[in-house]
Amino acid sequence: MLHIAIVNGPNLNLLGTREPEIYGHQTLDHYLKQLTKRFPLVHLHCYQSNVEGELINYLHNCMGMMNGIVLNAGAYTHTSIALADAVSAIGVPVVEVHISNVLAREDYRKTSFISSKCKGSISGLGMDGYALAVQYFVDALLPPAV
Ligand code: DQA
Repeated sequence: MLHIAIVNGPNLNLLGTREPEIYGHQTLDHYLKQLTKRFPLVHLHCYQSNVEGELINYLHNCMGMMNGIVLNAGAYTHTSIALADAVSAIGVPVVEVHISNVLAREDYRKTSFISSKCKGSISGLGMDGYALAVQYFVDALLPPAV
């Protein structure tokens, strides 16, 4: 069984009502329930916090516990060297996800301190970015069924 953490940063608890023209109408809880059903062979560990240090503590706790991490750090993507350092430090592969296309928005969203520490990044594909990131880990880490 693969253990994948889905880690969401600040304001992503407000998905569903937060700027729906950018982030859509789906709540995070609803989407994550569907995601769990979509990947029956993966144990998804979902965590959200609005607090930078809590996100860092959670990433530390993933060491030796998770096979991979899907991280949407929200606005901390663009500001937090501490979170980027945590991604480098833990030795667990991380895929960065953004629901919106951060490169098509304000200039301050074009910098990610996290991207270069990650296996890869998915941006602008809506909530399905999370599913695509989990699928990456399934393909990379689970042996193919014969
Ligand atoms: C986001 C993009 C960030 O710039 C923003 O601060 C968010 C959400 C996204 O998923 O598109 O909170 O990470």
